[in-house]
Amino acid sequence: MKKIFLETYGCQMNEYDSELVRGILTKDGYVFVQEETAADIVLLNTCAIREHAHRKVFGRIHKIRHKYKQRSNGDGDSLMIGVLGCMATNLRKDLLEDKALKIDFIAGPDSYKRLPGLIREAAGIGAKAFDTTLSEFETYSDVYPSRVQGVNAWVAVMRGCNNFCTFCVVPYTRGRERSRSVANVVEEVKRLAGEGFKQVTFLGQNVNSYSGEGGDFAALLEATSKVNGIERIRFTSPNPKDFPDDLLEVMANNPKVCKHIHLPLQSGNDRMLKLMDRFYTQKEFLDLVDKIRGYYPQMALTSDIIVGFSSETDEEFSDTAKVMQAVEFDAAFIFKYSERKGTIAERKFPDDVPEEKKTARIVQLVDMQKDISLKRNEAHIGDVCNVMIEETELTRSTDKFQGRTDGNKRVIVPAGAYGRGDFVKVKIQEATPHLLKGEYFYE
Ligand code: SAH
Ligand code: SF4
Ligand code: F3S
Repeated sequence: MKKIFLETYGCQMNEYDSELVRGILTKDGYVFVQEETAADIVLLNTCAIREHAHRKVFGRIHKIRHKYKQRSNGDGDSLMIGVLGCMATNLRKDLLEDKALKIDFIAGPDSYKRLPGLIREAAGIGAKAFDTTLSEFETYSDVYPSRVQGVNAWVAVMRGCNNFCTFCVVPYTRGRERSRSVANVVEEVKRLAGEGFKQVTFLGQNVNSYSGEGGDFAALLEATSKVNGIERIRFTSPNPKDFPDDLLEVMANNPKVCKHIHLPLQSGNDRMLKLMDRFYTQKEFLDLVDKIRGYYPQMALTSDIIVGFSSETDEEFSDTAKVMQAVEFDAAFIFKYSERKGTIAERKFPDDVPEEKKTARIVQLVDMQKDISLKRNEAHIGDVCNVMIEETELTRSTDKFQGRTDGNKRVIVPAGAYGRGDFVKVKIQEATPHLLKGEYFYE
């Protein structure tokens, strides 16, 4: 029995894909190990979204080979290394040609069912085996992922992206949009409830653009919320362009659908938004936020921001800060623009904002957002929140549990007679920019 060590980088979709890969290879007789040094095969499920993600993987491959060499007192070549995920499609040529890396096989996000065959090919003939073909149809609706037991289960309901934002590599690494059927997702959610999961998080590169046999995203939320045993439904990442009224209505009125929307802004400046080929203007984004809060005033909102995109001036950058101030996101992930190979921006717009400027801009926004997050969190002090306990073994403190509110805020409570997946009422007493602290509340 061959032993596999699998490491995952990037977004939740990649985490989910790793569960698919575990499902596929376990069925084929492989076992998964926790230590890379105990493995015969190392699989890296990679991310290509920014230069940093990408460099990390190259560094990691060198390190693994080195470690293995030391262990085996040999050349380290009997260890097989396979690259999966978004770098696989994006950098297939570079990966195969890099002699120092010695990659044995490569599989893109739509080729995981071929992994058993690819591994055999690579082992048998010693030639590089690869399949990075992107599919218009593959949704893995017939593969049941091998999940780690917990309270939350990821479920990819659609894959791929058709938007081609000019800065983004995802449409090239993951191909075109395609959705599973409503019935197929409901079936998986029922099975998850049976296994004891309390929460499902629907995943997709544009999850709310979901359009499967049997309905749109609002219909999918409604259908899956009827599954007994599932208490919370979350989703990520939605795209601001697809928030029809019926979806907001379902979100506001269905108690199982969590009151949190991740709404990536990217930039608050109209010229930048156009250059990025996003589908909205500053005003349209702000109007959408108003509309969301009209349906549900307490809706938690988080966002993604890019600073230093091609030709962004100080003034244009300040529009992003203004929108962030106006909206007051609960949290925001802020990134420096990183030029990606093969994207429209790489071909058309120079990456010309100096690194120091990008750094100054990110620092400014991170600081600003910290204050906003603190203010948003402090507003909860005194509230009694419905919290689902998620962790009962925290690394830093043994006498505390961690849970989350409906709005996805982390809450620290004293350890109690509860288990993961239990719902408790918590009175919030303290807030930091990143979390809330409270005591159990008994009526
Ligand atoms: N599908 C989601 C985003 C997926 S990528 C959406 O459309 O909103 C996650 C985030 O990474 C993006 O929201 C963006 O902020 C960031 N990102 C993507 N490409 C990037 C690049 N080239 N440089 C820096 N950040 C990038
Ligand atoms: Fe990338 Fe834009 Fe697609 Fe999001 S919507 S994955 S940012 S191309
Ligand atoms: Fe990275 Fe691919 Fe996800 S590029 S962010 S792993 S979709």
